[in-house]
Amino acid sequence: MTTASFPKDFLWGFATASYQIEGGIKDDGRGPSFWDTFCDIPGKIADGSSGVTACDSYHQYPADIELLKQLGAKAYRFSISWSRVIPVGGRNDPVNEKGLQYYVTLVDELVKAGIEPMVTLFHWDLPQGLHDRYGGLLNKEEYTKDYVRFARVMFEALGEKVKLWITYNEPWCSSVLGYSIGQFAPGHTSDRKKSPVGDSSREPWTVGHNILVAHGAAVKVYREEYKQKQGGVIGITLNGDWTEPWDPESKDDIEACERKLEFAISWFGDPIYHGKYPDSMRKQLGDRLPEWTEEDRALVQGSNDFYGMNTYCANYIKNIPHPAKPEDFTGNLELLLENKDGKSIGELTQSPWLRPYPQGFRKLIKWISDRYGKPIIYVTENGTSVLGENDKTKEEILNDDFRVKYFEDHLQALAEARTFDGVDVRGYMAWSLLDNFEWAEGYETRFGVTYVDYEGGQKRYPKKSAKAIGQIFDKLIENITSHS
Ligand code: NOJ
Repeated sequence: MTTASFPKDFLWGFATASYQIEGGIKDDGRGPSFWDTFCDIPGKIADGSSGVTACDSYHQYPADIELLKQLGAKAYRFSISWSRVIPVGGRNDPVNEKGLQYYVTLVDELVKAGIEPMVTLFHWDLPQGLHDRYGGLLNKEEYTKDYVRFARVMFEALGEKVKLWITYNEPWCSSVLGYSIGQFAPGHTSDRKKSPVGDSSREPWTVGHNILVAHGAAVKVYREEYKQKQGGVIGITLNGDWTEPWDPESKDDIEACERKLEFAISWFGDPIYHGKYPDSMRKQLGDRLPEWTEEDRALVQGSNDFYGMNTYCANYIKNIPHPAKPEDFTGNLELLLENKDGKSIGELTQSPWLRPYPQGFRKLIKWISDRYGKPIIYVTENGTSVLGENDKTKEEILNDDFRVKYFEDHLQALAEARTFDGVDVRGYMAWSLLDNFEWAEGYETRFGVTYVDYEGGQKRYPKKSAKAIGQIFDKLIENITSHS
């Protein structure tokens, strides 16, 4: 009997992002990012906090590496703070050697420790200078050139040692949360009570398009100038969660489930793999969704060496019978946590949007694999917060059985997808190595497998789940001797 498993060389580890862990926002010449600015606006972050200190990884990165070693991680996914490397951000602005050196050292130390670095170039923290200069992500021509220069600086500095590059993390979030709901930097929304500027009916689609083009342009540079001599691969990380119909008998709800996946994932995935936006999006959004020029299409289509997948949970989906409002970004539907019969999709966590549904993980990765022709997939994030975790004592927090179970169930589902559904998944990064700055939710929501004592000098204490992940992989990774 075949059992679900991972191959020997399966790359597993942990993920973080610059603004969520580094702190040191004014150290060694780092410039401001638009997340620094956003956090300073009263009311934007639940606990009024910011990334000023975060986990202090700018200074305490040796402790992070030590932790990764201790936990047996094979890989570490982290992101670059663009404004640390190029403080104003633009293609003619100076590089900050000290900021760049931080990442060179981090990568050197990881490699020395036998841990594979996986580098995300952009995990949301745009230099404020570019936002001020020309509207940042809203300006395709200027932004693309600046992003490509930033990418080039990083390929030059790290490319000998970094073999796994991610251009963007979750462009859906940058576009929708940043330019429609206004919950993320820069906080644009049509709701004038929340923001003086913004047009939710257009900006998210423009930003999404511009990110795709910038991604494609950076991939072209990597492939033409670096890939051969450096021997790495490059892709984008997209978020998306599985959907189940609110009423399983309703054809409309079933169709809406597919539409939801298209509005979340295929918005970015289809242009990359199929050279066009999904029909469902074009139908609803018309010319508010940018058209593809031949030039941009050529940059974007075929631009993924691998698919980076982030997923956490699932939702019930209910179709909305009347036409979509201009600011609708969902696909004219409702996301619900309970179905028609009042059944919850999963247990409560500290994050209002997150209820674990491991079966959905297997179904979703198969959906992605089928839609995009069985690409190589790296799961670049998966994890959970725990209900009330922040209100517990340190000892209680360290005993995170809920998170252990989450990882057991999700890794089992992933192994099944690989073994039985033919999904070509090559790696898995748990979110997150550390408790950290959870964006608009501040520090009250902890996603770490490691407890960070924010009052106690940011000292790190591995939770039960930190050690459990290695043990789960020990069980699921094929034992070659027993097969031969
Ligand atoms: C996805 C994001 O990439 C990450 O920054 C965030 O902390 C986690 N989701 C949890 O919400």
